[in-house]
Formats: sequence, C-alpha cells, structure tokens
Amino acid sequence: MDEEYDVIVLGTGLKECILSGLLSVDGLKVLHMDKNDYYGGESTSLNLNQLWKRFRGDDKPPEHLGSSREYNVDMIPKFTMANGGLVRTLIHTNVTKYLNFKAVDGSYVYNKGKIHKVPATDVEALKSPLMGLFEKRRAQKFFVFVQDYEESDPKTHDGMDLMKVTTSELITKYGLDANTVDFIGHALALHRDDNYLGEPALDTVKRMKLYAESLARFQGGSPYIYPMYGLGELPQAFARLSAVYGGTYMLNKQECKVELDAEGKVFGVTSEGETAKCKKVVCDPSYLPDKVKKVGRVARAICIMSHPIPNTSDSHSVQVILPQKQLGRKSDMYLFCCSYSHNVAPKGKYIAFVSTEAETDEPEVELKPGIDLLGPVDEKFFDIYDRYEPTNKHDGDNCFISTSYDASTHFESTVEDVLAMYSKITGKVLDLTVDLSGASASGEESEA
Ligand SMILES: *[C@@H]1O[C@H](CO)[C@@H](O)[C@H](O)[C@H]1NC(C)=O
Ligand SMILES: *[C@@H]1O[C@H](CO)[C@@H](O)[C@H](O)[C@H]1NC(C)=O
Repeated sequence: MDEEYDVIVLGTGLKECILSGLLSVDGLKVLHMDKNDYYGGESTSLNLNQLWKRFRGDDKPPEHLGSSREYNVDMIPKFTMANGGLVRTLIHTNVTKYLNFKAVDGSYVYNKGKIHKVPATDVEALKSPLMGLFEKRRAQKFFVFVQDYEESDPKTHDGMDLMKVTTSELITKYGLDANTVDFIGHALALHRDDNYLGEPALDTVKRMKLYAESLARFQGGSPYIYPMYGLGELPQAFARLSAVYGGTYMLNKQECKVELDAEGKVFGVTSEGETAKCKKVVCDPSYLPDKVKKVGRVARAICIMSHPIPNTSDSHSVQVILPQKQLGRKSDMYLFCCSYSHNVAPKGKYIAFVSTEAETDEPEVELKPGIDLLGPVDEKFFDIYDRYEPTNKHDGDNCFISTSYDASTHFESTVEDVLAMYSKITGKVLDLTVDLSGASASGEESEA
C-alpha cells in the first residue's frame, strides 16, 4: 500500500477491469481495489444460493431448481456483437485465451404484438413477415445500399454525404414506413431512443453494417456471442491480464476513501488506515457519490424457467428487443434469455431477464408486457437500481468515473464508455483495428 501508483482503480465491475487491464498493458503502475469480497461489483454473476440471499433473505432455494453452483445469473446481462468493440478489445489484449464464447441462437424484435426474427440482409428482408410486399422491395434496396456502403469509396455513397444527411432524410429517400424504421433503428442499429433520426446517418449505417457483418461470422441465427459460464468470467479475465502486466489486486478493502488535496486534486486512496498514493483514480459511481448525479433507474425482472421464450424457434439463447413505440413508451424494453447451453443453469433450465429504463414509480407494472411474453416461470425476482453519471471535471481532480450500466442487453454502449474513459485517462485513442479472423466462435463451444 505505501507505494506510489500511476492509477488506482476502485471497483471490479467490467468497465473498471477492462480499463485496469488496458492501463497495465500500457506500462502504467496500477493498484486495483474493491470494497466487496467478490469480483464484478454491480456486474457480478450469482449462483442460486447467492441469488436467494440477495432477493429472498433467509429462505433457501427449492430442491427442484437443482444445484446452486450450476447457476451463473448475471446481474447485468449483456450479449456482445461478434465483431463489436468488446470482442476487438478482447483480441487486442489477448484476453480471449482466458475465455470461451459461444454463439447466441436468436435475435428477435417485437412488432405489432408479435415476435419476429430481425431481418439483417436484403435476402432476409424479402422473406420477413414484418413487411408487406412493396415495403419489402423498398427495404431490400435500402439494405443493398447499406451493405455496399464503404466510407472510403465515394462511388458507394449514392451522391450523399452521410456526415450531413440525417437518418430521417436517408430513410425518406428510400420511402420506408415508420414500422420498418422502428425495427431497423432499434433492433438492428441498436439505438435506445429516437434521437438518431435527427442525427447524421453515418452512425446508423455503420451500426447496421456491424450487425450484418457480425451475423455473417457464424452459422447461428444472431450476431451475438456470450461467454460459457456467464459474464462473471469477463472481469476476472481482464483482472488476470492486469496481473500479468504487474497490476496489484486487493478485494475486500473496506471504505476505500478517495483523498483530495487542497486544490481538489486526487492524491491517494485510504483503506483500513493506510493511504496508497496515486496520480489518478478510476472508479464506478459508488466510490465517489459526491461527484455523480442520478440520471435514471433500471428495472429488471429475473426469471428462472423450464422452457425457452415462446415464438423464438426454441432458441436456448436469445435477445428480443421491444422498441419503445411498440409499447407506447419512451425507452426500449429488452428480453434476454440464456440457459444450460451456455452453462449458466442446470440442464433443462433457462434464465430470462426483462429490462427497461423505469419511467414510472411502478416499474414492476411497466415490465409486464415483457414478462407476459415469457410464458409460465418457475421463479421471478425484481431488481431495480439507480443509474449515475459523473458530474466532475477530470482535468481538475484527476478522477475518472464510469457511468452506471444501462438497461440494454448488449455491450455496445458499455464499450463506448470504456473507450472514451481510456482516451481521457491516457490522452490516446485505443486502436481497435484487429484481425477478427484470428478469432472464431461457432455453434459449438470455441474461442471468440
Ligand atoms: C498478444 O499476443 C501477441 C502475440 O503473441 C503479442 O505480440 C502481444 O504483445 C500480446 N498483447 C498483449 C496485450 O499481451
Ligand atoms: C406466437 O405464435 C403463435 C402461433 O403461431 C401466435 O398465435 C402468437 O400470436 C405468437 N405470439 C407472439 C407474441 O408472437
């Protein structure tokens, strides 16, 4: 403890662990501490006994649910895009060697009261029952434009500058109706609200391409992959990376008080009466409550089931996005299901999550349309937590605080926050142009 560190990282949530790994690889001297005696912070995974302890107090889980240690229930469930930022970060850091990923079976969208497979290519658009005959043709043309679009090749731009043209203008050009725009924006481009319509179209086109290219990587029915044994494996894999590069880890460090000097600049962290000195602190919002503000609440139902989500072709792992408009809400709702096929539950059991940003004081009522799609459940738990964002100026205090995890069940926004924090901490942009072909995952268990 009585050494001087470049960076002290507080909390072993996924964001903090990725940063600790990246900063250690950069040659910085890193001390990583957690007030809890387990890895993962908010983004930990629980076995059945731990799940019961958290939500049911002294009760014991019933026998018929099977062995506690066969459960790995994520508190922040998320799938990762096969070609997305998290996978690139894993390859960039070689953390892939500590993990096994498996493709996710299905990607669906809720539309006019029904669950449909998300069409991602011109060929799938033509087959999709989501659209009528003429709309299919228009969507096909739009998908072909997106597939062919190359930022560096103006010949593919169809005379448009997508840094200037808004998504709304681009969609108008192809004459797509509001229903089509809804599933493209929310289930393919993974926007969480409708602000993207007024923003330059380039971002949405890139997101659609990421989806289609990720889908093409595997034989599976989705662009997503997920680690065997759950997300709890991820923070630990990055922690191992940090340790390989000289990072020091300490769990169960009570208090962890961030020390500021007279000018408000961080100079160390005190725990159990000892102060470790440092130049910068990286942490989750719980370690610096005076430097964050509450920006929302996430509501989540966690369900143990004995069957897959109905109408998803018996997918043993699946995401269903319920766009806000379909439910008359301001924020999307997400269904996420995984099972024994990813080793997160005993044979025959499925863990389903329904998540959304809470918009009322009755989040359990808000979640009902999503829960109703699950069919009968064996057990149901409700979780609700506040979301925080930093309010500090990091060039004044040298504190770098992550934002809380949002309700989405994919990693894209998580990775954006991590990469932005990395740039603020180091003044560098992380180069994630990696050789994706070096990594593979298939329907069978294999490395990503
Ligand atoms: C990853 O592995 C490659 C090849 O062995 C090596 O050159 C590179 O330095 C490694 N990167 C990290 C972050 O350990
Ligand atoms: C599920 O499939 C059944 C049978 O095709 C259909 O009647 C029902 O509307 C579907 N429900 C949803 C939510 O898609």
